[in-house]
Amino acid sequence: MEVSGVLFLIIFPFAFFLHPIFCSAVSPVDVFLIDCGGSNPVKLDDSRVFRTDSSFSNVGFSHSSHIVVSRDDNSSALYNSARVFVKAFTYTIRTKQIGRHWLRLHFFPVQNSKYDLKSAVFSVVANGITLLHQFSFSKLNQNSPLMKEYVIEVGVLGSGSKKLELAFSPSNGSLAFINGIEVLAVPNMYFPSGIVPVPLGPELEISKNVAFETSYRINTGGPLLTPRNDSMWRIWEPDQPYLVNAASAHNVMVNPNLIKYPEGISAQIAPNWVYATAQEMAEANVTNQRFNISWVFEVEEGFSYFIRMHFCDIVSIALNSLVFNVFINKQSALSSFDISSKTLALSSAYYVDFLTNVSMGSNQILVQIGPPDVRNFPSNAVLNGLEIMKMSSPCKTLDGNACVAYSKKSKIPRKKLIVLALSSAAVFVVLMAIVAIFFLYFRQPKKPKRCPSTWFQFPTNVGNSDSKVSICSFASTAQSHALGRVLSFSEIREATKNFDESLVIGVGGFGKVYKGMLENGVMVAVKRGNPGSRQGLTEFRTEILMLSKLRHRHLVSLIGYCEEQNEMILVYEFMAGGPLRKHLYGSNFPPLSWKQRLEICIGAAKGLHYLHTGASDTIIHRDVKTTNILLDENFTAKVADFGLSKLGPTLDQTHVSTAVKGSFGYLDPEYFRRQQLTEKSDVYSFGVVLMEILCARPAINPALPREQVNIAEWGMHWQKRGLLEKIIDPHLVGFINLDSLRKFGETAEKCLGEYGAERPTMGDVLWNLEYALQLQEASIQNANSSDNSANYIPEIPGWISRVESINADRFDINDEASDAATTTSDVFSQLMDPKGR
Ligand SMILES: *[C@@H]1O[C@H](CO)[C@@H](O)[C@H](O)[C@H]1NC(C)=O
Ligand SMILES: *[C@@H]1O[C@H](CO)[C@@H](O)[C@H](O)[C@H]1NC(C)=O
Ligand SMILES: *[C@@H]1O[C@H](CO)[C@@H](O)[C@H](O)[C@H]1NC(C)=O
Ligand SMILES: *[C@@H]1O[C@H](CO)[C@@H](O)[C@H](O)[C@H]1NC(C)=O
Ligand SMILES: *[C@@H]1O[C@H](CO)[C@@H](O)[C@H](O)[C@H]1NC(C)=O
Ligand SMILES: *[C@@H]1O[C@H](CO)[C@@H](O)[C@H](O)[C@H]1NC(C)=O
Ligand SMILES: *[C@@H]1O[C@H](CO)[C@@H](O)[C@H](O)[C@H]1NC(C)=O
Repeated sequence: MEVSGVLFLIIFPFAFFLHPIFCSAVSPVDVFLIDCGGSNPVKLDDSRVFRTDSSFSNVGFSHSSHIVVSRDDNSSALYNSARVFVKAFTYTIRTKQIGRHWLRLHFFPVQNSKYDLKSAVFSVVANGITLLHQFSFSKLNQNSPLMKEYVIEVGVLGSGSKKLELAFSPSNGSLAFINGIEVLAVPNMYFPSGIVPVPLGPELEISKNVAFETSYRINTGGPLLTPRNDSMWRIWEPDQPYLVNAASAHNVMVNPNLIKYPEGISAQIAPNWVYATAQEMAEANVTNQRFNISWVFEVEEGFSYFIRMHFCDIVSIALNSLVFNVFINKQSALSSFDISSKTLALSSAYYVDFLTNVSMGSNQILVQIGPPDVRNFPSNAVLNGLEIMKMSSPCKTLDGNACVAYSKKSKIPRKKLIVLALSSAAVFVVLMAIVAIFFLYFRQPKKPKRCPSTWFQFPTNVGNSDSKVSICSFASTAQSHALGRVLSFSEIREATKNFDESLVIGVGGFGKVYKGMLENGVMVAVKRGNPGSRQGLTEFRTEILMLSKLRHRHLVSLIGYCEEQNEMILVYEFMAGGPLRKHLYGSNFPPLSWKQRLEICIGAAKGLHYLHTGASDTIIHRDVKTTNILLDENFTAKVADFGLSKLGPTLDQTHVSTAVKGSFGYLDPEYFRRQQLTEKSDVYSFGVVLMEILCARPAINPALPREQVNIAEWGMHWQKRGLLEKIIDPHLVGFINLDSLRKFGETAEKCLGEYGAERPTMGDVLWNLEYALQLQEASIQNANSSDNSANYIPEIPGWISRVESINADRFDINDEASDAATTTSDVFSQLMDPKGR
């Protein structure tokens, strides 16, 4: 047992890791929709057609039986007729495939003059597994039809026979009946071969002989889903009846079209409606809220249950911000679980399977989710869907009574032996997997540099004779793109001295950025993507596509790119000043003056304004932040990093629906709530940037007291009181004109409006910033021309002087008005000319 504990530590992390490696969805081949005893095909509300049992060539009957037809036509057509058996009877359904199949049995005691079906007592056995034992409708106390769902293996243990034998046996002197049968192949990836037990232990193998019965299938926080909403015709119930304390949960919902199925998770696992709704903790926004949401399900004692939990983070605004615990029958199943660490994206489907035994004497499964034991972490937890499936016992039954009645002798300790054997097999498999992974990682041969695949073709636009000679033939055929040109890998290697670490000027999610010099002496920044990053690939393409459409003084220009085999490299103009953020805090650069800051804001605003309005399509940057605003040697600001950019809505749309992406702290709350992206989301992020520039601190600083963590909140707290000067960068104190500050504060406040519609356009923002700059410059002039400057700006607090001492160089004392005019017209000519420069 000691040993297994240690092994568990090895296995556990792999349990989830190995689990979703499934191939893509296989559409089921076997589909049988059988109306038992019917005389005509019946079409259900969900538009499925059930054919009469006698019309199937591949469905056999053991002998004749009786048919009853209802006297009234009230219920669904499937329940108007039934096939009735007075002695044992077998349906043989010859399938095309072996493997697991859904088997759904429909029962309804049809009212008729001949038989009393309601009190009939009978058993049902499918391929040797007892599904129902001495079943009688009268015991159910139910007047509506009954549907039982099972999963049965066809072609068990080498017999290879592709048939499902469904045997009905009436009890002494009684009858058996059935109204409808559905058989549908289960996709191969649907059930894992191994499963983690709770209480946690080594992974156990699920034998093919095991049959399942669906006990519960729940769409937590969502509506009832019927067969018409599910490609596999499953039913998903709402969770309210099972919630222990309804006040503990709060249901959330997003547009189902936003749900993504990552590679390895097929949409057949659960419909997007399941992932698009969830229960989260009520009052989730209270920090240090500590309680669990609990659901309780009645089940039959003495069986093992397969529990599948569906998760999808539809509540967070950023990755890694939702962490919670999951318990099954008060035992930990997942501890400090972070969905986004598995999916690497929000609104992305994920599921985890567990096996739990419900011992004799207990008849319930308690599922709980609750906050992590991490202090000061926002308390929340979600559950999107839950499936509980009873697993057939070693005596081949899914109906408890049968095991007791038939086969006491088969309850032998063999089970323990199997478990041991299986766990050692699992250990072996996992060790092999580890070895395999080592091999894959470390033995991967250096791939020869070959020409890239043509995953991405640019419109070839000839006329650029300045083409660098590229070694690669792909490069020479497609090189002459209008803007960025294809550079060869060797050329880039030369420019960066073979990616010399000393030339690294930045490291980001995408990869490293190197400073380099092309052969013609042009300084460049070389962004080299981490090879093999799929996400990187998408962003790489987006960036090239976007930048190839754009050219503007305040957008970083793309000089070229290289995509050879594993390499994704972007080459930009070199920005000597680096990211704006470095000039604000966290490094030793001299503080920027207020005028410089305003000019930088104006520059960035021009860049964004051009993105939104200047190009043929509206472009939404989606990731406006101080690290994506770069400065050149003259502190000209340029907007960079278009990897997340999206084309904006076309004229007849008001927004673009998209999964939330962007950076924590800069995200538009409305975009987050409604997943509707407009250019006003960039305006919001820009408002955060304005506050960051003014206060010289990060957008989110978790080290600060709670109310100060988020700069947008903290800044607006003071702005609304008209006391923004209280929190400005101390370096600005004494050098900032109060009117200029007021104008700036108002502009930021409008940008940070709760709703997109309230926020100004980038054009308005630009105008207001220009105005703030004029106020600043005017005050300098006034300070010099009149000694009585205190009268000029009366409300100024003593500690804020209205004079900026440095960088007043470009100010034109005599021609204030015309200066303002040129600035503005400059702006607009810039905007009118899509080429910018
Ligand atoms: C069938 O419907 C009729 C009227 O709609 C009703 O009177 C009758 O009770 C129903 N029969 C059953 C069995 O529900
Ligand atoms: C079936 O009938 C036999 C004798 O006719 C009787 O011994 C047995 O108990 C009956 N079984 C059930 C389940 O009624
Ligand atoms: C289920 O499908 C029906 C028909 O397509 C649709 O009207 C209904 O809104 C769907 N329900 C959900 C929850 O998707
Ligand atoms: C968050 O808290 C505010 C007030 O503290 C409350 O009005 C709001 O309903 C809460 N939101 C949720 C989702 O519980
Ligand atoms: C949640 O439930 C588990 C198991 O029942 C328990 O150990 C834990 O303390 C509960 N958490 C809270 C916050 O109540
Ligand atoms: C910076 O300003 C100087 C002087 O105006 C100019 O010569 C130089 O080209 C500018 N640099 C950039 C990168 O624009
Ligand atoms: C304002 O006056 C100060 C000293 O009185 C001088 O150093 C500065 O250059 C003047 N600024 C302008 C724009 O004239």
